[in-house]
Amino acid sequence: MNFDSISQEPFLEIKYFLEEARDQDLRDWNGMTVSTVDKDQRPSSRVVLLKKFTDDGLFFYTNYKSKKGQDISKNNNVSVNFWWRELQVQIRISGSISEASRSESEEYFNSRPKGSRISAIVSKQSEEIESFESFQKKVEEAINSLDEKDIKLPDHCGMYKIKPEQIEIWKEGEFRRHERTLFKLEEKKWIKSYLSP
Ligand SMILES: Cc1cc2nc3c(=O)[nH]c(=O)nc-3n(C[C@H](O)[C@H](O)[C@H](O)COP(=O)(O)O)c2cc1C
Repeated sequence: MNFDSISQEPFLEIKYFLEEARDQDLRDWNGMTVSTVDKDQRPSSRVVLLKKFTDDGLFFYTNYKSKKGQDISKNNNVSVNFWWRELQVQIRISGSISEASRSESEEYFNSRPKGSRISAIVSKQSEEIESFESFQKKVEEAINSLDEKDIKLPDHCGMYKIKPEQIEIWKEGEFRRHERTLFKLEEKKWIKSYLSP
């Protein structure tokens, strides 16, 4: 992941821990829990992988018609949580989410191995299926029938971009003396404060 374009203070902190987690080879170091809220105000969470992080926000790839996609189409407020046990750090972010540009999504999709691209084409993420075997069969059929030129980013797949509005960095301390730093975006400026653990 390239973090070159990051300049805002709380983003630099996030970048620091992401690089630390990556450099320590932590498994799924870029995993983050994204929570959405559905039309009946019920929250739900799932893990996705952070694929890109710039001053524009946090990017992940998914299916826009999935459960999360449907929630987001009704309510673009989301929450994100990172936790790295080994770093003793938790990062909590809330903000708004939108679809990234088509070219950003295509760039990512085209960088994926053929098998992953085909699974994305075949999977109707979050829809009920007859069985896991029936899905496997569809993937195999697609592998045999699709040419490289047919393996294009489907309209309903792509990257989402999360623009943070609030960021809390939680660092574990001894005897519950955890350090909590809160950054709030107010009139395009990040205001920093500290929270009791
Ligand atoms: C470590 C890990 C990484 C994952 N990465 C992604 C991802 O990048 N994109 C994605 O759509 N789903 C990813 N998933 C699957 C999601 O957790 C989830 O099952 C899927 O997106 C469907 O969620 P939904 O039904 O709430 O829309 C990942 C799961 C795990 C455990």
